[in-house]
Amino acid sequence: MNDRRGALQEYLLRTQPRTVDRGRMVVVERELTRVVRAGVTGAVVEFGCYRGGMTAWMRAVLDALEADAPVHAYDSFRGLPAVGRHDSDYLAEGEFAASVGDVLRLHEQFGLRRPHLHAGLFAHTLPEQLPGRIAFAYVDGDRYESTLECLRAVLPRLAPGAILVFDDYADPAASLPGRAVAQPKAPGVMKACEDVFGTPLAVTSVCEDPTWALGVYRHAVPPTVAAAMSAGPETAR
Ligand SMILES: C[S@@+](CC[C@H](N)C(=O)[O-])C[C@H]1O[C@@H](n2cnc3c(N)ncnc32)[C@H](O)[C@@H]1O
Repeated sequence: MNDRRGALQEYLLRTQPRTVDRGRMVVVERELTRVVRAGVTGAVVEFGCYRGGMTAWMRAVLDALEADAPVHAYDSFRGLPAVGRHDSDYLAEGEFAASVGDVLRLHEQFGLRRPHLHAGLFAHTLPEQLPGRIAFAYVDGDRYESTLECLRAVLPRLAPGAILVFDDYADPAASLPGRAVAQPKAPGVMKACEDVFGTPLAVTSVCEDPTWALGVYRHAVPPTVAAAMSAGPETAR
């Protein structure tokens, strides 16, 4: 890991431990690298960026891979919306309030290119302010309605081979092999995925910590595109 990325990691572990821990950084780096190495083109987006810790981490990972993809981050900067009927009240309304300035200062501090920031409720910024083609998204809105709004907006824009990573997806302590149980602090995240993808779930839970598991969704390459890709450029035309 280069010095700048290492310094950013240490800084985030020290200053934003509730939202950006080592395991989350490992999973995001692994999945984002997979997308870049597979040659999937499109924007990298984050729904619910708070103080920009993961936004900066994704930029640093892309830079290390010499990938030029733009990063777009979305947040009301007013913290979590009110608890809905599919959410728990563990996380209170207004929690995780931050500012555009927080995100920009963090990027400046580590010499990272600024992300495109979209301030406002997802209901106001999505889908109009989304790029047309998306290669990777980190979905971290914690609430059912927030996750549902992101999914509805992002799915039609995913590039073949794109990956979505959901924070606070499952509870590893309560899950069994092949049967993930929702994270009790944010049960609306899995519920929104179930409502959009149906069951059996298209989302796999990935666990790097005893207390949380992220969800990973891989957008299939349609069979016709896959066939054209393996047949080479002549037939792909
Ligand atoms: C847990 S924090 C995100 C942490 C961030 N991803 C990180 O890794 O540092 C959740 C964020 O989602 C935002 N959020 C949740 N629902 C939203 C909505 N409907 N519209 C806009 N922002 C929302 C909150 O303002 C909050 O900043």
